[in-house]
Order: sequence, then C-alpha cells, then structure tokens
Amino acid sequence: MKVETKVVHGKGITVDSASRAIAPAIQTAAVFSFKCAEHGARLFAGEEEGYIYTRLGNPTLRLLEEKMAFLEGGESAAAFASGMAAISTTILALCDAGDNIIASSPIYGGTFALLSKLLPRWGIEIRWAQATKFVQQIEKNKLIDERTKLFLIETPANPTLDLVDLAEAANMAKTYNIPTAVDQTFATFYFQKCLDFGIDIAIYSTTKFIGGHSDAIGGITISTRDLMRKIKDETLIDLGGVMSPFNAFLFLRGLKTLAVRMDRHNCNAMKIAQYLEEHPRIENVFYPYLESNPQYALAKKQMSGGSGLLSFNIKGGKEKGKTFLDNLNLLCIAVSLGSVNTLIEHPASMTHSTYSAEELKEAGIPEGLIRVSIGIENAEDLIEDMDQSLNKTFS
Ligand SMILES: Cc1ncc(COP(=O)(O)O)c(C=O)c1O
Repeated sequence: MKVETKVVHGKGITVDSASRAIAPAIQTAAVFSFKCAEHGARLFAGEEEGYIYTRLGNPTLRLLEEKMAFLEGGESAAAFASGMAAISTTILALCDAGDNIIASSPIYGGTFALLSKLLPRWGIEIRWAQATKFVQQIEKNKLIDERTKLFLIETPANPTLDLVDLAEAANMAKTYNIPTAVDQTFATFYFQKCLDFGIDIAIYSTTKFIGGHSDAIGGITISTRDLMRKIKDETLIDLGGVMSPFNAFLFLRGLKTLAVRMDRHNCNAMKIAQYLEEHPRIENVFYPYLESNPQYALAKKQMSGGSGLLSFNIKGGKEKGKTFLDNLNLLCIAVSLGSVNTLIEHPASMTHSTYSAEELKEAGIPEGLIRVSIGIENAEDLIEDMDQSLNKTFS
C-alpha cells in the first residue's frame, strides 16, 4: 500500500468489528473494571493484556499509537498531552542527573526553554551544534563524552528551516551507541521517513499537521519496543502527560486527510516561496525545496517535499515586517503551524521569545525573520494578500 492509502486505512482494519462503525469510538472511561481480583493482579503484573486506567493505556489512544507507529515505520508509539510532553518525557526517560544531550540549533522556542532553562536545574547539560554543520561541530568541539545520552535533532528547524543531515547524524551516534531523536513536526512521515535514515526515535507535536485544524493539542513518540518501554511504561505513566481520548480521536480523523492536505500545503508553499524570492522588497527566503537554498541537495536526499513552512526577511527589517503583518487581511497573525489556515508570525517576539537577543544571534535566527505556515487555501489568494500588504507597507 502507498502512503495515501495507509493514512486512510491504517493496516487495513477500517471498521469496528462489533458495531461495523467506520469511525473509531471515543473511549472516555478513565477506569476499567476487572473480572475478578486475580484478573486485576494479572493486569498489574503484566501477565495479561488489558486496560486498567487511562493514564496507563486506553483503547482510543492505542488506535492512534498503533496507526502512527505503522505510518512512521516504528515498532511502538506513545500518545502524549502535547508535543512538549513528548519531548520532555523522552529526555527524562533517557537521561539522569550528570548526563548531557547534544541538540541541534536553532530549535523551537519551547524546546529551547526546556533544554536551556529547565533541564539544567535537574543536572542535565545541553551542548549545542548548529543544524547545518551538526556532525562537523560535534567533532570539532569534541561534544561527545561518556555521559552523552541523546542527540536531539529538529529538521527542518523552527524557524529557519535549516536541515540536519539525518544519515550523517545517525551514523555518528551509532558509533558511540547514543540514541537519536528527531522532531518530525515540520516534515511529518509524509515527506521525511527519519527512521529509514537510522534515527531511533521520531517525535511529533501532533497539534500541527497530524491534527491539521488547530483544534487539539497532542504529541507522539515512535520508536522500538525497547525504547518505548523506557519512554512509556517507565516514564510517561508516572510523569502523567498522556493524551486525552477526545484528542486521540481528532488526530485519528486528521490522519485520514493528511496526504491530501500535505500535497496542498507543499504545492502552495513552493508557489509562495517562488513569489517571495522574486519580490524586490524581500531580502531572502528560506524554504528547503527552493533550488537556490544552499541545502537543496540535502533536502532532495532526505525529504520528498519541502512541506508547508517557510520563512523570510523583509527589506527594512523588524519594523517593516510588523507593518507587513498588520496590513494582511487573509493571512492570520498567529503562532502554531500545520493548520488548514495560513498562519504568520514573528519568531523573535513570539514562538522564539524564549531566546535572548544574544541567543537569537548565536542560533542564527534573524531579528526581523517572519515565519509562515502555508495553509490549504488557494495560493493565488494568499499571494494577492501578501502583494497588497507589501505594496501598502512600502507605499
Ligand atoms: C517543532 C516543534 N516541536 C514541538 C512543539 C511543541 O508542541 P506542542 O505545542 O504540541 O507542545 C512545537 C510547537 O510549536 C514545534 O513547532
């Protein structure tokens, strides 16, 4: 089966065997009863499969976990309350006080805050390597030691769309026996099968393209059974950041239209990237699938499309950028991404405001950069709105 069929049908079971319903039921129960005391004891001891309590497992969550594991090409998955819950739980499952993580830079502002501000309080150290020169900087700066427990990679990176070479990073990590995790939120399995490049763990904010409609917060981690045992059974159920069954239902529904949505996001983003690149008032455009992008060859190697995110600088910097946002009518000034609606924002003052001015500079995030998540509207309408706003901004 091709991916367009897989997102609709999963492994092929499309109807509930008891009711023949074509959509999954939402199992809202927090608690499941035992047939007898001995049955309860056997479930707790792991001697028999079954549901106990939704924080430990739930049928609707399980449908989503199994479908995402299948689509990503992993053995097992866990559903979390948010993308940040997926990232933080994965880290805490793999790292103890005194350990360190090597992370790619730049990275989403929330992840940056978790890594640079929160984790050091528990004795976990972060070592940064620039996304575009990830393995080269790790080598040059001798970042790996015996306490390095994870490579945490975001590619394409939020908000610059910089890429990390997945095969190079996975090969290096394997020689040192270090697990690798990739934040797949921007590309999704539809454009980037990170596990095929030797990456161990795929992480998502499902809030974005998986849901697709900006109406549910969630996260997913997919990996081998062994790693997922650590992440889910030994960490998630005690930290407690599990997804709600209602949201699992929304993500299952979102998955069915993922392929058609991603094709439209991709096609629209390419048209808009090309339009912006030609515009005299635009300084530069960052989109992995633009031929002028210095990482175009790598994008073609590890992604089957550029996805729906792009960023750019306007001539006149931050001030002109703000006026440009305010003059838009159709594009919505909002954070988040992966929605059917086009969402536009200013990372330095919004999604990446957790970075200081100095940290933005170090991470290579321009102060005036604008990020857009291209929706599934008609590309000509989006271009027309950007065009009128640019004309107004510079009149
Ligand atoms: C790349 C990336 N990873 C993770 C997250 C965090 O996800 P959530 O908001 O679902 O916690 C975000 C949120 O914007 C993101 O852009």
